[in-house]
Amino acid sequence: MALLDGIASVTDLELAGERVFIRVDFNVPLDKKTGAITDDERIVAALPTILHVAKAGAKVILASHFGRPKGKPNPAYSLEVVGARLAELTKMEVHVPDDCIGEAPRKVISDLREGQLCLLENLRFHEAEEQNDDAFAKELASLCTVYVGDAFGAAHRAHASVDALPRMMPKRAMGFLVAREVESLARVVETPERPFVAVLGGAKVTDKLGVIEALLDKCDCLCIGGAMANTLLAARGYDMRASLLEQDLVARGRTLFEQAEKKGVKLLLPSDVVTGGSLEATSGSTVAVAMLADGQLALDIGPATVAAFRAQILAAKTVFWNGPMGLFENPAFAAGTTGVASALVDSAAFTVVGGGDSAAAIRAAGLAARVSFVSTGGGAALELVEGKKLPGIEALRLVRG
Ligand code: 3PG
Repeated sequence: MALLDGIASVTDLELAGERVFIRVDFNVPLDKKTGAITDDERIVAALPTILHVAKAGAKVILASHFGRPKGKPNPAYSLEVVGARLAELTKMEVHVPDDCIGEAPRKVISDLREGQLCLLENLRFHEAEEQNDDAFAKELASLCTVYVGDAFGAAHRAHASVDALPRMMPKRAMGFLVAREVESLARVVETPERPFVAVLGGAKVTDKLGVIEALLDKCDCLCIGGAMANTLLAARGYDMRASLLEQDLVARGRTLFEQAEKKGVKLLLPSDVVTGGSLEATSGSTVAVAMLADGQLALDIGPATVAAFRAQILAAKTVFWNGPMGLFENPAFAAGTTGVASALVDSAAFTVVGGGDSAAAIRAAGLAARVSFVSTGGGAALELVEGKKLPGIEALRLVRG
């Protein structure tokens, strides 16, 4: 597969006795009140690589960003809480030095025995990380002898630990998660079995224009829900009343319809929606898209739309889904998103959920294990589908074309 050409696997490396830096994405969500981790999927997904490297007899140096602390140390963004969860999951001691460069990690690493782990403190406590700074990358490089890239969720960021650092490390490879992510997403975008149905949702057309255009070149049917569908429905001439929409993209929406027609792609928009008077409404009413009442907001796709999307998904051989169909955090407007999740589960197709909110929604519905693959990277998955080169993948390539 072209996307992984020239990239070694962690299994290709001699690891015994080495100091192995594994860049993971431990950017997990926390409960705002209790500070507890609410979804540890990204930690669980990194375990196969971590355990492989530890079992091979290497010292394991884990590194991640966590939130957006804006280049300064901040206890609210400390990886301590992640270290504690990792210790529970691995049943191993996890040392967390109070910085990711300098004496603190150097001491912890020199005290590690082969097969033991440490987790460096948040890389983004240094602004040099996001600046892709070479001097900072050199500091990180001085801690290790081998680099393993397994932070798929951060692979679209040209940051020092993702880009500059691996380029400095002759012994570098991808971890199991990155391999699985890229293989699954490539099966969708490079060699999809047809019919290929893509389902897109989320708030804004702006965020997904590139992906829509890329998918129009690849898929047979594109189903669009969520608030972004409001803009496209307005482009079709419907009065979306008080619904969230991007007025400045309505004209662009019309050209998307023309593009879809030219390329022979079926573009499905909602025929009915569930409306409410506000985002906090505790119940909604189902109406045809032509019948929205004054002051009402479209907050979910309606049952006829779910049925239409479901029919496409069940007839497909490949399905890619990204973005919720409505305001799924509010149970009154979650049925559309759960309906799409259930259709993916019932489909015999190769089904991929592209991270972010749709991954959270399918996990919340308890259905994640029943689709072919759920990506751990929202932005990274979308950029890959869009056909962009991801810095965190490119930097791992040993042979450049
Ligand atoms: C994510 O959560 O999407 C990744 O960890 C990247 O985080 P960022 O958007 O803060 O760079």
